[in-house]
Amino acid sequence: MRLDPFSGPYSRDPATTWQRLNATATPISYDDDLEMWLIAGHDNVRTVLSDTARFSNAATLLPITALTVDAGAILAGLDAPPVAVTADRPQHLRTRGILRALMPTTAVRAEQQWGPLVTARTDELLTDMKASEPTDLMHFAVQLPLLVIHDVLGLPAAASEMIRGWTDDFADLVWGNPTPEVQIAYAYSSVALWRYCADIVSRRAERGHYGAGLIGELLRYRNNDDSNLTVAEVAALALNIVGAGWITTAGALGNALAHALADPGRWALLAGNEHYLNLHVEETLRHSPAIDGWLRLTITDVTLDGVTIPAGSRCLVLIGAANHDPAVYTEPEVFDPHRGRAGQHLAFGAGPHYCIGAALARLELTTALRALAGRLPDLAVADGFRQQFKTSAALRQLTSLPVQQRPAGRCPVGHGTSAES
Ligand code: HEM
Repeated sequence: MRLDPFSGPYSRDPATTWQRLNATATPISYDDDLEMWLIAGHDNVRTVLSDTARFSNAATLLPITALTVDAGAILAGLDAPPVAVTADRPQHLRTRGILRALMPTTAVRAEQQWGPLVTARTDELLTDMKASEPTDLMHFAVQLPLLVIHDVLGLPAAASEMIRGWTDDFADLVWGNPTPEVQIAYAYSSVALWRYCADIVSRRAERGHYGAGLIGELLRYRNNDDSNLTVAEVAALALNIVGAGWITTAGALGNALAHALADPGRWALLAGNEHYLNLHVEETLRHSPAIDGWLRLTITDVTLDGVTIPAGSRCLVLIGAANHDPAVYTEPEVFDPHRGRAGQHLAFGAGPHYCIGAALARLELTTALRALAGRLPDLAVADGFRQQFKTSAALRQLTSLPVQQRPAGRCPVGHGTSAES
């Protein structure tokens, strides 16, 4: 079975490929091009993500496309210690436990701690947006989580454009298919991102001025004692959060906006109906997950759904295919916020590595959708819009989402290729 994630069709509409994978007799197959196992099916994906005894996260951020020797040598400079998403036991449990103690993980606590800053950043971006002119909503969808994650970590907002560029390059190096020349540039960016985190954390640790935000809280937790956390581990956690915190949410927000703007009825509901708002967000996460593939490495031989995967194999865990499994969801290609069981989606993973930022992401999504739909009630996707995602084996972010004011009396429909209810 081939996934062909770097082809045009996959970048326009990955759901068609998930449908094909879900329709085959075995949802576990080997992809000769990618040289990794494809895992589809809701039960299989949940099992693989949850089973940390047989599936390792150690190679989770190793590039999908083999690196040239030169690019690999540069990337060796990214020598962050394994923490959270890149770690297995015992480092995973220890570092995740510290993050969980310092970060709100419920909706109520996330709203209390981060609600005001998410609202302030949303207002600031909306004020800058000229509603009367056609604009690309992906700019908003990127800037909001990018600025919020800087505030959350206690990083200067002035660094955000630099960080955005480096993180984009790092994500393309891991999940894309860059040419050898581009690999070199991306490897330098990835190391620059790590060095930035390492330098800022070690400067604050040395001066004893830990600063506001999560970096400050991690340094205070460390209390100058390496047996609590090393300075390098604090920097690696900052790298984890900056990497995981904005690209994912930008993708999810773009997808939620595209589904909402495809139907003026939905757009109107988002402004005043909190129940619908939450349903819309959950159905977006199910239907169009911002991370639709993720990597695991088998620690031993594993037999799953009758297929034996040898020890040491890389597996691409297809969260998107799981969320479109017809055994769990009726007419999975239809975007239907009122469907039952949408909450069983695997967009935030499952088990011990379950997304630690899920509450923050949901807060950002609901705040942004409510504010945009409330202030710009006549917004519609621009004429001729066709969805096109950035080329990636894992991250699903629209390249653009052009919008325009809806002329009075006109009722646009979605131009996306995926079905809408
Ligand atoms: C819609 C937005 C998001 C999506 C779709 C998403 C998705 C995911 C997924 C699928 C995982 C599981 C990875 C695995 O099993 O190895 C994960 C883990 C993680 N996410 Fe998110 N995420 C989002 C937002 C965020 C935000 C805003 C943050 C930061 C505040 C964040 C921080 C993390 C961290 C640190 C982990 C690793 C947890 C661990 O390994 O124990 N994520 N995320």
